[in-house]
Amino acid sequence: MTYIFAHRGAAGTHPENTMAAFEEALKAGADGIELDVQLTKDGEPVVIHDETVDRTTDGSGWVKDILYRELRKFNAAAKWDGRYGHCPIPHLEEVLAWLAPTRLLVNIELKNSLVAYERLEQKVIAVVRRYGLENRTIFSSFNHNSMRLCRQLAPEIETALLYMEPLYDPWTYVQAMNAGGVHPYHRTVTADFAADARRRGVAVRPFTVNKPKTAKTMFAYKVDAIFTDYPRQAKEWKEKTP
Ligand code: G3P
Ligand code: MG
Repeated sequence: MTYIFAHRGAAGTHPENTMAAFEEALKAGADGIELDVQLTKDGEPVVIHDETVDRTTDGSGWVKDILYRELRKFNAAAKWDGRYGHCPIPHLEEVLAWLAPTRLLVNIELKNSLVAYERLEQKVIAVVRRYGLENRTIFSSFNHNSMRLCRQLAPEIETALLYMEPLYDPWTYVQAMNAGGVHPYHRTVTADFAADARRRGVAVRPFTVNKPKTAKTMFAYKVDAIFTDYPRQAKEWKEKTP
C-alpha cells in the first residue's frame, strides 16, 4: 500500500505551498501533504520552498531578511493569472491547525541546506507538539545533521533523509542517523533497493513522481509513499496498477 503525498500541496494544479494547494490535496483524497519550512527575519516558521520569495510570489528578497508581517503581504498565487486570488505564504501554525482535524499525514521538509536558520528544529517541533501531530508527522531534510538533531530533540517523531545521489552503504548510514526512512530522488530507486529497505523496516518515499509510468513502477516496487504534484491523477494511476 503506497501512500500518496501531495508535493507542496497539489503543486501541479494549484499555487505551491498555499492553503489552496493543501485544501486541494485533501479534496483529491491524498494520504498526506508535503511542505517546506523556513524562518522569517523575526524567526517565524513559514511554508515556502525557495530561500527567496521571487519565483513564487509578487515580492522579492530572501525569506531570512523579511519580517513576517511584510512577507504576509506577498501573493503566493501571483503567477497563476488571478485564478486563486490572494494566497499569503502560510505560517506553519496555520497549516497544522487546519490539518489537525483531518486524516492527513504531513511531511515537513526543513529547508536549511543553504541558510542555517537558528532554532528551526526547536520551533517546528514545538508547533507539531502543540497540535498533537507527533504520530502523523515525518520530518525530512537534505541537511542530515538537522535530522539528527530533530531525532535527539523529539525521538517520538519520525525523520527521513532526503538525497539526490545514491548513498554509500545506505543501511549503515540510516541506522547511524536513527532515521525511519529515506526520501530519495525517484531515479535512484531500484526494485532491489526497495525490497532491501522493506526487509530492514526502512520506509522509502521517492520524490517527485509526476509521470504515470514512473508512478506505476514505484507502486510495483511497493514503496511506502510517493511525493507527487498531481495527487488526483496519482490516485487513478494507483487504482489501475495491478
Ligand atoms: O520532500 C520531497 C521534495 O520536496 C524534495 O525536494 O526541492 O521539492 O523540496 P524539493
Ligand atoms: Mg520539499
